[in-house]
Amino acid sequence: MREKLEQIKSEALSMLARIDTQKELEEMRVKYLGKKGELTAVLKQMGKLSAEERPVIGQLANEVRQTLEKVIDESAAKIERAMLEARLESEAIDVTVPGKRLEEGKRHPMYTVLDEIEEIFVGMGFEILEGPEIELAEYNFTKLNTEEGHPARDWTDTFYIKDDSSILLRTQTSPMQVHAMETKQLPIRVVAPGRVYRKDEVDATHSPMFHQIEGLVIDKNITMADLKGTLNTIVRRLYGENTVTRFRPHHFPFTEPSCEMDVQCHECGGKGCRVCKGEGWIELLGAGMVHPRVLEMSGIDPDVYSGWAFGMGLERLAMRRYEISDLRLIFENDERFLKQF
Ligand code: DAH
Repeated sequence: MREKLEQIKSEALSMLARIDTQKELEEMRVKYLGKKGELTAVLKQMGKLSAEERPVIGQLANEVRQTLEKVIDESAAKIERAMLEARLESEAIDVTVPGKRLEEGKRHPMYTVLDEIEEIFVGMGFEILEGPEIELAEYNFTKLNTEEGHPARDWTDTFYIKDDSSILLRTQTSPMQVHAMETKQLPIRVVAPGRVYRKDEVDATHSPMFHQIEGLVIDKNITMADLKGTLNTIVRRLYGENTVTRFRPHHFPFTEPSCEMDVQCHECGGKGCRVCKGEGWIELLGAGMVHPRVLEMSGIDPDVYSGWAFGMGLERLAMRRYEISDLRLIFENDERFLKQF
């Protein structure tokens, strides 16, 4: 029995030297010290020993048990330390490694201009409206006093969706005037930005899709002076306090009288240059007093109410603002272009 105990001890110790995981260590604890373990098996046979031998072997068995327990505990502590170190090593963060650069996106210059315009109008008490790009011809034309047979309704200019010319891609944001008049309570103060579509070939100043912003005010006693005052204020906020403007008579079916608003060329101060093509002035928008028939068709009494409206192209505005020479740059979304703003 003595030999058996010595054998267990030396076997266990040499085995322990090769163990480096908690699982193996636990298996070995069970194998030697567990209830069905080898040491217990030896102790169970103590009864067979003589009275003299029993205490001697008992003491030896105890020594072996204590030695193994101690060594196993030490080993457990060592393994735990090693695991902790490995974890610290693998999870360590090197704060000196350079970070990954995040590519920052940029707001498109045209939307920057639109944001500014919207902010100015909202500050003046206007509401921002959005409406359908697929529109009834009735709203895009008829209710804007552009009757059937009018050249603007021609198939060569407009993307019609139905063969009977009743549904189309809106050619202007002006139908939003009709939507506003039909759905809003009076008085009305709205601006409506959005995409519009025309059968234009792409070149430096044309695109079959572009953006406009429409404005509409309807109230009692609204006059052309209100139109001029408001538009002048907007333009001076956009282009600076010293901006000079002029209003030229024009024709639109849905306004009477109608006008176009020009700003004096910022480049040459009105003398004429490359930017204004020698004119000294740059055309900015179309506007006018809402035609009484347009009011009437949307159920507003033109003897009580009057109003003004305007529409302007957003691409053009952004191009002038940032001195962009080609409309195509606005739509291509080339990063090298967008990054400049
Ligand atoms: N819708 C016109 C266009 O696309 C622009 C315009 C002119 C809008 C006069 C208006 C207006 O509201 O009153 O050319």
